[in-house]
Amino acid sequence: MRLENKVTLITGASRGIGRACALAMAAEGATIVGCARTMAELDTLCEEVRGAGGQASAVQTDVTQSDQVAACIERTIEEHGRIDILVNNVGMGGYRPFLEWSEQDYDQIMATNTKSTWLFCKEVIPHMLKAGGGQIVNVASVAGLQGYANEAIYCASKFAQMGLTQALDREFWERGIKVSAVCPGGVATHFAIGDGRTAGSSQMDGFSTAEDVAEAVVLAASPRARSRIVNVIMRPMNEAT
Ligand SMILES: NC(=O)c1ccc[n+]([C@@H]2O[C@H](COP(=O)([O-])OP(=O)(O)OC[C@H]3O[C@@H](n4cnc5c(N)ncnc54)[C@H](OP(=O)(O)O)[C@@H]3O)[C@@H](O)[C@H]2O)c1
Repeated sequence: MRLENKVTLITGASRGIGRACALAMAAEGATIVGCARTMAELDTLCEEVRGAGGQASAVQTDVTQSDQVAACIERTIEEHGRIDILVNNVGMGGYRPFLEWSEQDYDQIMATNTKSTWLFCKEVIPHMLKAGGGQIVNVASVAGLQGYANEAIYCASKFAQMGLTQALDREFWERGIKVSAVCPGGVATHFAIGDGRTAGSSQMDGFSTAEDVAEAVVLAASPRARSRIVNVIMRPMNEAT
C-alpha cells in the first residue's frame, strides 16, 4: 500500500473528486480526515471507508472562514498528532458570460478556490516543517493553465492557485515539503453541471471520472525518495488540449 498510515486531510470530501480521493487514498492505507460543509455526506463517506476496513473521520468546515480552517487543523493534530498529506480539493465555478458575474460571485469563487488553498497551506505547513516534511496536492484545473470563455473568474482563481502551488514548491522543497498540482479537464461531477449539461446527461459521458482524478492525486501524493511530481495535466478523451 502506497500511503500506509499517512494522515491525509482532504477538503471538499463530501462529494465528487474529494470523495473519490478519500476512498482511493484510504484503499492505499491512508487515515482520512475529510472536511466540507455537509456533515451528512461526510458521515456516509466515513462509514464507507470504515466498511472497507479503512480509517476516516470528518470535520464540518467552511473553508472560506479562517477560524473554521484553524479549528479543523487543530482538531486533526489533536487526534492524529500530524498531517502527512494535505489535498486542497475544494472548488466552485460556473458557466456564464463575463458581464453577468457579480462582485459577490467574484468574492465567493476567489475565497472558495484560492483563499482556502492559502489558508490551509498557512495552517498546515508549520506542522509539516516540524515533522520534517509533507506532501500538498492542490486540485487545480486546466482552467489554471489557459483562459476559457464564460469562466473568467474561475480561471482567475485557478491561475492564482497554480501560482501558489509553484511558489510553495520553490520555497519549501528543500525542507521536505512537496507541493503538486493536479489539473483535470472536464470531470463528470456536480461541478460540471451547467453550460448545457444537466445531472446525468449524456454530454458528460466522455468526461473523466472523479476516480480518474483520484488516481492522479494518489500518484502525486505517493512517497518517492528521489523526485517529486510538480504538475499533472489530465484531459478526457472527448476534449482537445
Ligand atoms: N468537475 C470538473 O469538471 C473539474 C474540472 C477541473 C477541476 N475541477 C476541480 O476539482 C475540484 C473538485 O471539484 P468537483 O468536481 O469534485 O466538485 P463538486 O462535486 O461540486 O464538489 C465540491 C466539493 O467542495 C465542497 N465545498 C464547496 N464549497 C465549500 C466551502 N465553502 N467549504 C467547504 N467545502 C466546500 C463541497 O461540499 P459542501 O457543499 O458539502 O461544502 C464538495 O465536497 C475543484 O477544485 C474544481 O475546481 C473540477
